[in-house]
Amino acid sequence: MKDKYLLGIIGFGGMAGHHYTQLSKGNTKVSIKGVFDINPARLEAAKKKGLVAYSSKEELLNDPEIDIVLVSTTNEVHAELAIEAMECGKHVICEKPVTPTAEELLLVMEAAKKYNKVFTVDQNRRTNKDFVLMKKTVESGVIGKPYVIESRVEGSRGMPSGWRTIKALGGGMMLDWGVHLIDQLMYMFDEKVTSVYCTKNSLQYPEVDDNFRMVMIFANGVEARVEVATNNYITHPRWYVLGENGTLQIDDWNCDGKVVRCIDKEDKWAEEIVYTKAGPTKTMAPRNPNSVETITLSEPLDVEDNLDPVYRQMVDAIEGKAELTIKPEQALRVIKVMQAAMQSWEKNEVIKTDI
Ligand SMILES: NC(=O)c1ccc[n+]([C@@H]2O[C@H](COP(=O)([O-])OP(=O)(O)OC[C@H]3O[C@@H](n4cnc5c(N)ncnc54)[C@H](O)[C@@H]3O)[C@@H](O)[C@H]2O)c1
Repeated sequence: MKDKYLLGIIGFGGMAGHHYTQLSKGNTKVSIKGVFDINPARLEAAKKKGLVAYSSKEELLNDPEIDIVLVSTTNEVHAELAIEAMECGKHVICEKPVTPTAEELLLVMEAAKKYNKVFTVDQNRRTNKDFVLMKKTVESGVIGKPYVIESRVEGSRGMPSGWRTIKALGGGMMLDWGVHLIDQLMYMFDEKVTSVYCTKNSLQYPEVDDNFRMVMIFANGVEARVEVATNNYITHPRWYVLGENGTLQIDDWNCDGKVVRCIDKEDKWAEEIVYTKAGPTKTMAPRNPNSVETITLSEPLDVEDNLDPVYRQMVDAIEGKAELTIKPEQALRVIKVMQAAMQSWEKNEVIKTDI
């Protein structure tokens, strides 16, 4: 056990900068010693922040003071860098998506076992307030058993240029955002995913999915609909959940939302046809407003929505105090679902899974 664990970062781009900002607050036992990046401009940026700029990856990995390595490069080299770092005796935290394929992650997991190192993944969106609010509200039972969950993130500015547009570097929205949304749902339900259907568009960049829509079915019967979009000028709610006894909606990242739940099923039907705005219909006739209750949802103030919980769970695992909460086995299931989704859009078929 140590008072401080020193972190070396490989790949000091945008996301690594976010790790720097958060860890600089000193809320965890992890602090950054230095970085290596193949781009000299990023090494200069590190120096300006008072960090050590290593002249090579080997120099960083052979620094005996470094306890933990953060792999925060483009996705295609995550596996090889993570394995090399563990060979050099370092614990590793890897940015998401941990690796583009399950095969690569299995090699990383083998290395973690062989070298007896802690290996975890930055699935930081498990503590996003909107997700925590949705999960807690559904688990409270207020809408009854859930049977459909819709999770969407939608922008209209297209995809950022750069490596995200290049397939060989692990680009595309499935690996970029899909990995978070799928991880959230698989973290919420222990049940297996039994089928996946997915369609995608490559509107802006022909090599990669810049938009996708996916349906994944869990063994408990829950149908999860996941959409990541970069060309939606009118957006859906962030979350929309149907339960047997009510409906939940969270509109946006501010967590504005509501639950409308049934307090009287109103299953008495008129003998005669009912005339409504929808024309003559009994099914779609408006219900008695006294038969439902509306509960306003708002931002949960007790949720620590930053990178600290990710690092704390890692330090606890290094110190043998607790198991990782973000386990490689969980990341492996998420990758398998993403690979099934890609297979689905290539074949235009529902893919039966046992994940
Ligand atoms: N967890 C999150 O919420 C989140 C958010 C954004 C990005 N990410 C992930 O973080 C990673 C980096 O994304 P980014 O947005 O910071 O990209 P970026 O392009 O800003 O940074 C990547 C950096 O890695 C460097 N690099 C590439 N290959 C390298 C190598 N072999 N050795 C050393 N340096 C190398 C590049 O020069 C660049 O500076 C990706 O895996 C991405 O998916 C995670």
